[in-house]
Amino acid sequence: MPDRYAVFGNPIGHSRSPAIHAAFARQTGQDLSYEAILAPLDEFPATVVRFKAEGGRGANVTVPFKFEAFLLANEHSDRAAMARAVNTLSFENGRIVGDNTDGVGLVRDIRDNLDTPIAGRRVLVLGAGGAAFGVLLPLLIELPSRLVISNRTIVKAEEAATILSGIIGRADWRSDKPVEVVAKSFDDLVGESFDIVINATSASLKGESLPLPADLFADGALAYDMMYGRDTPFLAFARRHGARCADGLGMLVEQAAEAFFLWRGIRPETAPVIAMLRGA
Ligand code: ATR
Repeated sequence: MPDRYAVFGNPIGHSRSPAIHAAFARQTGQDLSYEAILAPLDEFPATVVRFKAEGGRGANVTVPFKFEAFLLANEHSDRAAMARAVNTLSFENGRIVGDNTDGVGLVRDIRDNLDTPIAGRRVLVLGAGGAAFGVLLPLLIELPSRLVISNRTIVKAEEAATILSGIIGRADWRSDKPVEVVAKSFDDLVGESFDIVINATSASLKGESLPLPADLFADGALAYDMMYGRDTPFLAFARRHGARCADGLGMLVEQAAEAFFLWRGIRPETAPVIAMLRGA
């Protein structure tokens, strides 16, 4: 019997994760199965616990269950604790260990696949909901010179900035390079420009545009939409203002690769899998 893994979500029919993990398993010669499981909206914990009892080794979790997965886990990585969300569960000796690989997936896609250094650069994150919280700590760890969090509801951006500033102030913070962490309303972005602008709002999902100033993008800036699969008003806006544009497909594959590494101890190559999905 191959080792069993699965992704849980609702809806789940369009998930690319089974194809991604099947490609990783083929490439690395790992004997595993990976299926998509629809969890009823009010039965996420029971569905996961049943899968674990049947011999499941680990799971990915997607919308809308990442917070419930956080609550279900007995242990959390730092990045899951900051995100207050879990997208990767490992079942180890009866315990459920929760991690969040979204942020490191985003960082690897920007830094390695898109050849865009984050260290020392001015980074803007748009949004302060679950998706933004999932990526903020891994972005901070890259040591941008300035990390601005901007949100329609400013208190949520302020809360995120306060948490990150607290992490920088901790005794175990690893760098003495200054990182300015600032919360701003969209209006307050006037007059600032950034090297990397990441859209972590759910506006793209709804086809809505954000009220952003036209001179937001520095020369050669990267605009990154965490959504994938269609052009978004944010990317169209960025393109009109001269930015390089990327969608979230690379992040999807990189977060999966990090989960695969947590489970199997082997890092699959992501470039051929990204190319395969782009071709499909
Ligand atoms: P997710 O898990 O996708 O992040 P969420 O936690 O509901 O979902 O957060 C949605 C984010 O998108 C929030 O930052 C939200 O801004 P508010 O906190 O002000 O609600 C942002 N968002 C959604 N639609 C938006 C829009 N049309 N304009 C600006 N921000 C929007």
